[in-house]
Amino acid sequence: MKPVNVGVIGLGTVGAGTVDVLSRNAAEIARRAGRNITVTHAAVRNLGRSRDCDIAAISLTQDPFEVASNPQIDVILELMGGEELSFDVVATALRHGKHVVTANKALIATRGNELFAQASEAGLVIAFEAAVAGGIPVIKVLRESLAGNRIDSLAGILNGTCNFILTEIREQGLEYDAMLSEAQRLGYAEADPYFDVGGIDAAHKLSILSSIAFGTHLNFNSVYIEGIEHIRQQDIVYANELGYRIKHLGIARKDERGLDLRVHPCLVQKSQLLANVSGVMNAVLIHGDAVGATLHYGAGAGAQPTASAVVADLVDVVRTLTADPGNRVPHLAFQPDELAELKSLPITAIECAHYLRLTVRDEPGVLAEVTRILGQRRVSIKVISQKGFGGDDGVVPVVIVTHHAREADVASAVTEIEDLDASAAAVVRIRLETLD
Ligand code: NDP
Ligand code: HSE
Repeated sequence: MKPVNVGVIGLGTVGAGTVDVLSRNAAEIARRAGRNITVTHAAVRNLGRSRDCDIAAISLTQDPFEVASNPQIDVILELMGGEELSFDVVATALRHGKHVVTANKALIATRGNELFAQASEAGLVIAFEAAVAGGIPVIKVLRESLAGNRIDSLAGILNGTCNFILTEIREQGLEYDAMLSEAQRLGYAEADPYFDVGGIDAAHKLSILSSIAFGTHLNFNSVYIEGIEHIRQQDIVYANELGYRIKHLGIARKDERGLDLRVHPCLVQKSQLLANVSGVMNAVLIHGDAVGATLHYGAGAGAQPTASAVVADLVDVVRTLTADPGNRVPHLAFQPDELAELKSLPITAIECAHYLRLTVRDEPGVLAEVTRILGQRRVSIKVISQKGFGGDDGVVPVVIVTHHAREADVASAVTEIEDLDASAAAVVRIRLETLD
């Protein structure tokens, strides 16, 4: 049978990894797909740059639209990133009758609704396994393997860069900035690393997972987002003393009130499996009403793990080339006309325990003021600990762990504590997740 011709947009970390896997495992992949797969064309920004893959047989161009519209090409791999240009390139590929595989979570989370509608209209597939949790096949699990379940919640470590930075700071005592540079050097970070450390990348991924889990249109704007920039080494040390690890989690829960979607740093008990997911590894914990809890673990970023997911999607697409378009797996798991709109809960409606690190003057009566402010809002204290004595500046860290409390009450208590004359810096507040 005639080989399937593939055009690749982007030969960076993921693109080069994908071409490398396709050539290294070509015979096995062809046996699985039922056809040979040949990368014939690729688009890059810089034609002269050396590549981490063999490009001898690939025709290179700087124009992604030339690849997206080339009549010899059957499938486009969009591995360039970004939102605007990649949207136009994918839309062009679909207009020219090509299936698309992408690793671009920003594109799917923000423009997926439009692109899926265009693809469905044309009877084409957009596959995006690599967009969430790198090499972990979690999209397929949620969309296909757990299709018999009502999904109640999921929680995951969704950004390899954040997990790598938090792990290295805890284990090696290394500095945040140095670890971010290392994550960039290793090819984990986004082109703009603020997307990683600011929580936006994890929010892109969470919005994709929650749409598939709960059968809604993609709604990135309803995710509450916090990054890890405010976490200091001392918070990691204090959390450790209290029996917790700090993890950057994406959490999606559905109950009778609506959808709770958020990404932020969390204290997680050391005994929890998620607390022990280290380095660039990702993990996603999914609760289904029939299956119970399942945990999916693997490398969340990097050339080869991400290529594994891209190539798996490509094999699926090649297998579906002969399938009836009406019987393909829907993009968001539920049939497009069955997607629901669910109410998104504001972050103020959340209830959970909190870790608070105050920086206050070491003087009589200060702790009494702090406990009064918390008590007035029914925020109950589980642990309170002053870390040492006031130094030359007379200020001291005080760490508090609360019982479950309403987010709005904790937030207003924090504001009042920060307004005290004795308060010397902003309060560091990290939510504590029991993952029940
Ligand atoms: P890189 O920056 O390493 O690669 C981007 C590639 O796109 C480069 O080859 C670049 O060309 C090319 N490119 C950029 N702009 C243009 C343009 N205007 N015209 C033609 N080519 C262009 O990114 P990654 O490989 O890390 O990421 C690619 C995608 O995969 C992103 O969507 C990212 O979010 C996603 N992803 C990344 C993971 C990772 O671990 N890195 C994991 C999972 C998903 P040139 O090389 O010449 O500059
Ligand atoms: N920058 C992303 C991360 C790449 O660090 O997880 C994988 O999506």
